[in-house]
Amino acid sequence: MRLFPLLPMGTILVILCVSNIHMAFAQNENQFIYNGFLQARLHLDGSAKITSNGLLLLTNTVNISHPQVGHAFFQFPFKFNTTSSGLSPSLSFSTNFVFAIVPQVPNVGGSGMAFTISPSSNFTNAEGNQYLGLFNSSNEGLTSNHILAIELDPTLNPEFGDIDQNHVGIDVNSLNSTDSASAMYFSNKEGKNISLELKSGNPMHLWIDYDEAEKLLCVTLAPNGIPKPNQPLMSKSIDLSQYLLESMYVGFSAATGILVPSNHYVLGWSFNKSGQAQSLDVSKLPSLPRQRKAKEISGLMIMVLLIAVALVLITITGTAYNSRRKKFEEIREDWEKEYGPHRFTYKNLYKATKGFSDKELLGAGGFGKVYRGILPSSNTQIAVKKVSHDSKQGMKEFVAEIISMGRLRHRNLVQLLGYCRRRGELLLVYDYMPNGSLDKFLYSNEKPNLNWIQRFRILKGVASGLLYLHEEWEQIVLHRDVKASNVLLDAELNGRLGDFGLARLYDHGTNPQTTHVVGTVGYLAPELTRTGRATTCTDVFSFGAFMLEVACGRRPIELQGLPEEVVLVDYVFLCWGKGAILDASDPRLEGNYVVEEMELVLKLGLFCSHLVPEARPSMRQVVQFLDGNAKLPELPNDKACFGTSTSNEASDFLLSFPSSFSIASAPSCSSIDSILRSGR
Ligand SMILES: *[C@@H]1O[C@H](CO)[C@@H](O)[C@H](O)[C@H]1NC(C)=O
Ligand SMILES: *[C@@H]1O[C@H](CO)[C@@H](O)[C@H](O)[C@H]1NC(C)=O
Ligand SMILES: *[C@@H]1O[C@H](CO)[C@@H](O)[C@H](O)[C@H]1NC(C)=O
Ligand SMILES: *[C@@H]1O[C@H](CO)[C@@H](O)[C@H](O)[C@H]1NC(C)=O
Ligand SMILES: *[C@@H]1O[C@H](CO)[C@@H](O)[C@H](O)[C@H]1NC(C)=O
Ligand SMILES: *[C@@H]1O[C@H](CO)[C@@H](O)[C@H](O)[C@H]1NC(C)=O
Ligand SMILES: *[C@@H]1O[C@H](CO)[C@@H](O)[C@H](O)[C@H]1NC(C)=O
Repeated sequence: MRLFPLLPMGTILVILCVSNIHMAFAQNENQFIYNGFLQARLHLDGSAKITSNGLLLLTNTVNISHPQVGHAFFQFPFKFNTTSSGLSPSLSFSTNFVFAIVPQVPNVGGSGMAFTISPSSNFTNAEGNQYLGLFNSSNEGLTSNHILAIELDPTLNPEFGDIDQNHVGIDVNSLNSTDSASAMYFSNKEGKNISLELKSGNPMHLWIDYDEAEKLLCVTLAPNGIPKPNQPLMSKSIDLSQYLLESMYVGFSAATGILVPSNHYVLGWSFNKSGQAQSLDVSKLPSLPRQRKAKEISGLMIMVLLIAVALVLITITGTAYNSRRKKFEEIREDWEKEYGPHRFTYKNLYKATKGFSDKELLGAGGFGKVYRGILPSSNTQIAVKKVSHDSKQGMKEFVAEIISMGRLRHRNLVQLLGYCRRRGELLLVYDYMPNGSLDKFLYSNEKPNLNWIQRFRILKGVASGLLYLHEEWEQIVLHRDVKASNVLLDAELNGRLGDFGLARLYDHGTNPQTTHVVGTVGYLAPELTRTGRATTCTDVFSFGAFMLEVACGRRPIELQGLPEEVVLVDYVFLCWGKGAILDASDPRLEGNYVVEEMELVLKLGLFCSHLVPEARPSMRQVVQFLDGNAKLPELPNDKACFGTSTSNEASDFLLSFPSSFSIASAPSCSSIDSILRSGR
């Protein structure tokens, strides 16, 4: 104290500014200036601290789970509302400081900070969050607070009548500001107001000046680094003598909300009770941590976003991969290893058929939908049949059979290329038949009418294909669903039997008595519907119905038309009985056929439709008849023998059947089961 009068003012200031030695000086001189707070005489509490480079950090973003409050007050109080006859007006003060509100998430900042003049620097009882560490719920708004605060508020709090979420307010004893303004500054250069974002993270400069004589409180805001604007943000007429006590502390309070924490910084602070506070020296202010700068944060945010996007992409890709995997998931079991070469991957079939697109749909048969496809690897055309099959039962046997059928080679069979198995689904891959199924030619106007030569060739072809299945392969294969829609036409209009053996899938391991009959009404042999037992003879019956179908150009059963014409066999037999079997021929042929061939086909069709299985010719005989290598015996003129009629006379008829016929056919009804059991 004694030193003081001996030293010139300048020296004191130098001492103050450079080393901040004695607070007593500042207190007595009513002024200080801190360009950085490394050696500042401050009382800190809560989360407030001085960083290593001299920043005053009031709150930080480290402890986000707890709202933070931080205070920094000049250690000693100043004299404000004094009655003593001082030379200078005691209530006047001038201060400016540079601050930065750096939210953890850019532009999302909680709570805020305030320059505060308070009778106490003990804010133990004050609350954070919206109370900014200045008040609590019980003392908010009380005149006994004697607090003046200039709030820098980046949150809109309706409780206190906030005007927006980016404002500066003059608070007297209450956070319900007596005056407030959106953050902006008057640009001296441009002569207009320019708005600022408090929580931008950029340092800003705030000037607060109170002139006791004019009772005017001026608050001026500007970005850091530009001179003080000529126009203040707020100038409020206010008599502070009503509020301020004699001894008052000056300092800062800041608080953060939960979840949206901000770093509240003060970079430098100049305070003067004896006149205009000197402006801070921008070049001497400590700089904000690099990574905390808004740009860096947005860089960080961009990175966080990128990572998030990457994660989302990974998740999507993962999901896509998973659903893709699921999409292409197959069932493969150990026993299938030996069938490796016949195994197609679902993915390839999926690609080949363009995802089983409806555009590639060739048709929907009894066992499932058939799609056209092109194998990407070999560029060959295929047909993929999707057979829905839920049971695992019998699958092994069936696949074994399917695979062995893949070894069936006959020019009148649709070649099975392989298979694929999925949950509930079996996919069979066949050679593609460009002309589609025969029934389209017979019944639909889309396809040209087939002439007799073509029809007869198709019949002969299918007969030889069926013969191959029944007799010429290493084991008997029953087709079980011979009909026009299962006969496909290749590029040369050769008839090829498709779908052979598929019916087996449905009755493996089941009792023949309870087996539901597979096949198509009109093609089903009567004993098959009775016993459920398929044999070569039931196939022959179907083939007979098929022959009549091709020759007559109508389905085995047609509900429209005259009653006697409903069942084709009956009708053909009727025509035969009248001695006019050719009347049954397809009218679309307009009589253009070889009469002997037409007669042969119709009669053979009747023979194959014999009610007694053993009375039907075998496929070998059928082929011989069709090829003209054997002469068809005379048909017995007995309606009880054919078609849908059920008669006990049938067995009597058998006795009267031509011997050449019965010798060959009597024991000839073979089912695959009986053959396999007999160890053939
Ligand atoms: C967060 O703040 C709470 C209360 O101030 C304190 O108990 C806790 O230890 C702090 N956690 C960390 C990680 O600093
Ligand atoms: C602050 O005030 C509380 C009571 O309001 C008191 O318990 C505490 O000791 C005070 N702290 C200081 C540092 O004076
Ligand atoms: C609020 O603060 C005042 C003054 O510091 C104190 O007396 C009072 O107990 C506090 N009330 C609560 C609810 O904390
Ligand atoms: C804020 O104070 C004014 C009077 O100064 C009052 O009219 C207003 O209702 C208060 N607003 C709130 C939200 O307390
Ligand atoms: C700038 O804003 C202040 C405070 O809202 C206002 O008083 C002043 O008229 C404005 N100046 C201009 C040039 O708009
Ligand atoms: C401030 O000082 C004046 C004059 O001495 C006095 O009347 C007034 O009550 C004081 N204000 C406060 C809030 O104590
Ligand atoms: C305080 O004001 C006086 C008078 O204008 C001036 O001489 C002095 O430099 C100022 N001090 C500070 C720290 O602003």
